[in-house]
Amino acid sequence: MGNGIAQVAARAGFDVVMRDVSEEFLARGMKAIDKNLQRDVDKERLSAEEKSAVLGRIKTSTELDALSNAFIIVEAVTENLVVKTEVFRALDQITKPDCILASNTSSISITKLGAATKRPDKVIGMHFMNPVPVMKLVEVIRGAATSDETNGRVRELSEKLGKTPLECQDYPGFISNRVLMPMINEAIFALHEGVATRESIDGIMKLGMNHPMGPLTLADFIGLDVCLAIMNVLHEGFGDPKYRPCPLLRRYVDAGWLGRKSGRGFYEY
Ligand code: CAA
Repeated sequence: MGNGIAQVAARAGFDVVMRDVSEEFLARGMKAIDKNLQRDVDKERLSAEEKSAVLGRIKTSTELDALSNAFIIVEAVTENLVVKTEVFRALDQITKPDCILASNTSSISITKLGAATKRPDKVIGMHFMNPVPVMKLVEVIRGAATSDETNGRVRELSEKLGKTPLECQDYPGFISNRVLMPMINEAIFALHEGVATRESIDGIMKLGMNHPMGPLTLADFIGLDVCLAIMNVLHEGFGDPKYRPCPLLRRYVDAGWLGRKSGRGFYEY
């Protein structure tokens, strides 16, 4: 999602530094941005000059220090508390004191990430949705210590990015995944129990509820490892068995069938 966020910010006129752990990942990210912008050029929604200007506003680096002058950082690393905590600790060291540290996490506690820094008032959730250039929402998550000022600055920035910020408090799954993931998990249970085929489950939700994608297709799109990680956060965070991840979801993740990104999930790609 990092490249989508970089694209949206550069398109809105901001100078962006996109940082990743390897040149290979950065090249892949830039390729995705180029392809997305080219689609807009082909559809005559962007001129070729504007496209090069947007690309020119994105610098890439594998060095964390390249972010030291940022006024805001949106972290989008893997959905793992230990990794994210390390990143927040490191960012706290190298950035200017008034820099906002935002996380694009889909379920990890903003309060915990804030507590790993000396500026918990400036730590906030900025949860974009996939595909980032298309989806209008930024779910803004306030940790226990997030200040009104940080919240205000992030809301303003989200609007400048052409998004609608909607706010919630920091509880497991926030709103988006507290509501979405149990639906996806239930669809997986229905498949597991043989209630219907994958095509029927998805078709019923698409045609009957007007969802753009059925829940199993959407799970493949999000990544089954991400879905499982979020269900685990809900299960542990609320201690309520209603959030237990379906064994079939665990089995697919164990097999490395992670959805679109691995070529196989509930469907084959
Ligand atoms: N990047 C950029 N643009 C994309 C894109 C991508 N990956 N995929 C599609 N688009 C654009 C297309 O260019 C097209 O644009 P125009 O209409 O302006 O030309 C538009 O989106 C529609 O695309 P398509 O016609 O190809 O396909 P579609 O109508 O089926 O839409 C979709 C594709 C937007 C992905 C749609 O299926 C959809 O909304 N699906 C549900 C997505 C969703 O629920 N996302 C949230 C997931 S949860 C999450 O992200 C957070 C979390 O914490 C887990």
